[in-house]
Amino acid sequence: MDNINREYIDSYINKLIPDENERLEAFRKECEERELPIIHKEVGQLIKLFINQLNAKSIIEVGTNVGYSSIFMSCAMNNQGKVVTVERSEKFYNEALENIKDFGLDKNIDVYFGDASEILDSVEGTFDLAFIDAAKSYYKTFFDKCSEKMKPGGIILSDNVLYQGMIATDDLVVRRKKTLVRNLRNYLEYISHDERYVTSVLPLGDGLAVTLIK
Ligand SMILES: C[S@@+](CC[C@H](N)C(=O)[O-])C[C@H]1O[C@@H](n2cnc3c(N)ncnc32)[C@H](O)[C@@H]1O
Repeated sequence: MDNINREYIDSYINKLIPDENERLEAFRKECEERELPIIHKEVGQLIKLFINQLNAKSIIEVGTNVGYSSIFMSCAMNNQGKVVTVERSEKFYNEALENIKDFGLDKNIDVYFGDASEILDSVEGTFDLAFIDAAKSYYKTFFDKCSEKMKPGGIILSDNVLYQGMIATDDLVVRRKKTLVRNLRNYLEYISHDERYVTSVLPLGDGLAVTLIK
């Protein structure tokens, strides 16, 4: 059992998710073998549900890594919409570009290189969906910058918000994560209580916050 969900529940839920894209599945396995921090499968399935529900055509992502979730979201839009994603590690940025090209999605996914706290200001356009999956201490900055660009009724998803259970109880907090925990707790208070938003925090994967921009 991990600190958020019981393993047998996670594993059962994951088995229910159909593998619709062989190539994407092979890419997921490759990322998992390298222990890259890509989205949990069950989180991906909920993102796909939102993409369908919103009929999303434009998505902004903070935290590209090697491009798995960008490619996943682009495929979920049937390669028709646009994903804009930001990555600050040059190594991952370059890998993401390669992977996106291999999937033939370079026209559908724009990867920006740099710190999202700065880069997001120069991103143009409006978005149906935002996916925040980067440095956890800066989620409020990422959220505020993304929320300005959301279409009315848009959804912002924030991943890892329960951070191995540490956010919900002091008993699990390790000393070197104290600042991160404080920042994530403040972030969840903010998106849960500000009148402009409606937020639901789900114990899915490492914790996913779903926020509707009213
Ligand atoms: C959890 S990984 C993203 C995984 C990716 N969304 C996926 O599921 O395939 C987080 C990534 O965010 C990047 N990152 C962290 N802080 C960032 C920032 N301030 N600006 C841009 N990228 C950042 C890290 O380098 C890392 O590659």
